[in-house]
Order: sequence, then C-alpha cells, then structure tokens
Amino acid sequence: SAVEFGLDAPYRVEYHDSIGSTNDRARELAASADRDEVVVLADEQTGSRGRLDREWTAPSGGIWASLLLAPERPPAHVPLFTLAAAVATTSACREAGVDARIKWPNDVLVPGSTVDDATAGTGRESAGERGRGGAKLAGILTEMEGEADRVSWLVVGIGVNANVARESLPVGATSLRAETGDVDRRVFVQRLLERFHELREAPESVLPAWREYSATLGRRVRVETPGGVVEGEAVDVTFPGALIVRTPDGERTVHAGDCEHLRTA
Ligand code: BTN
Repeated sequence: SAVEFGLDAPYRVEYHDSIGSTNDRARELAASADRDEVVVLADEQTGSRGRLDREWTAPSGGIWASLLLAPERPPAHVPLFTLAAAVATTSACREAGVDARIKWPNDVLVPGSTVDDATAGTGRESAGERGRGGAKLAGILTEMEGEADRVSWLVVGIGVNANVARESLPVGATSLRAETGDVDRRVFVQRLLERFHELREAPESVLPAWREYSATLGRRVRVETPGGVVEGEAVDVTFPGALIVRTPDGERTVHAGDCEHLRTA
C-alpha cells in the first residue's frame, strides 16, 4: 500500500499500486518541465522491461523502483551509476540476511540458492538463466539520454524480487521470501536509497565496494559483447564499470555485454 511506502528518502517518491513500467513512468517525468530527481515505486508492474530486450516479471509484493536522476556528468560515466545501484541493492539484500552477490555488470544473485539447485540439470532451466552462477534476486535496467558531454536524464530501474512467492517467479529466479522471509519494503527501499546516495557522494568508493560483492571476479567467464564473444578469467573491474578479462590473447576490456559464469574444470 502507499502507506507502507511512506518513505523518508533523499529523493521525492511517487508511488503506484499498479503501473506498466516504472522506467517508462520515470522517462515520462524526464520529459516534463519539473526536473527534480524522483523515485517511482510500484507494488506491481504489468509491462516491465529487463535488459537486452528481455521480459521481467514484476508481481505484487516486489520492489520495483526507478530513479530519475540528472547528474552533471558525461554519458560515459553512467555505468558507474549502474554499478552503484547494484552495490546499494546488494547491500540492502545482505542487511536482510541473504548472501547476495553481483554478477557483472549488475545482476544480483544468490550463489548457493536452493532455487538454483532445484532447477540445475533438470532441463527446466531457461536458456536465459542457465549457467549463470546462482539464482537471480534482483536486476537493474539503466536508460539515458545525453549530449556528448552531459547526461540530460538518467533512469536507473531496480527490480528486487522481495515478498514474492517462488511460484510467481521465472525459473532460475529467487526472492527474499524464498531465501529468508518477507522484508519490510519501506525499510529496504530506505536503506537502498541511503546507500545509493552515499555512493553518489563518494564515487571513488563504488568500484571497491563492487569488488567486495562480486560473484564474477576470479571466475572463468564468457561475455557476449556487441563485438563478439570474449572468454577468459575475469580479473578486475575498472572505471567506469568495464570488466577486464584475461584471455589467451591478453587482457581485454569489456564495456558491455551479457556475462555467463563458466564452471571451472
Ligand atoms: C534485468 O534484466 O536484469 C533488469 C531488470 C530491471 C527490472 C526493473 S523493475 C523496475 C524497472 N522498471 C522496469 O520496467 N524495469 C526495471
């Protein structure tokens, strides 16, 4: 309910019981004259979107949030905001008692989830989730528009499978309810926003915090990039959010792509 989301947040909050997509609503606000930073929250989304044109299931009980931001930064720095959102989300999940980690760039996974065990090798894994190194608890979809030197608007969409029953989630996904039990969504969002705000004020702390929560560094990975597949060991993350992969041909810096964790032989 709206009361449950009566936030005392560092951002103005707009709440909807049900909406198509909070990212679409935030983009609509970006086009309006009022240029305040806003957080759009919904209990349920009927047309939510995931990364790489994937669908995203957003039933009632989850945390579906879009942050409309207007940073005085060049578009090239935007990945750092996405990483910061992943860190803030992971930190809130950990405070809720779940061993959450980040798969590059910004998927929040529970590596030892029983949900993952239950589907592994049964043939029920969806192609999109197979071999991804854990059950997916949260995801982030960042969208922006900008000139060469300045972002005009930035929407960071955060989806957390919070108080959602396992049965209502896609195969390969998990929820806070399935892992540990229901959370107070108001408290969760409050913590997430506070952590995000802290990281924004200390951008130099984003990469160290991301490294600490990483599920990817030290793993063998296969990344499908717009320029082809890169396979090797993920060795580090570098400004503004690129992954460094050690391959037989040397180190490659990957700026965008779909990352899969490979099992080590
Ligand atoms: C992913 O593919 O992992 C990203 C999922 C992002 C989902 C969130 S839920 C709030 C916001 N509104 C949307 O339509 N998508 C994002």
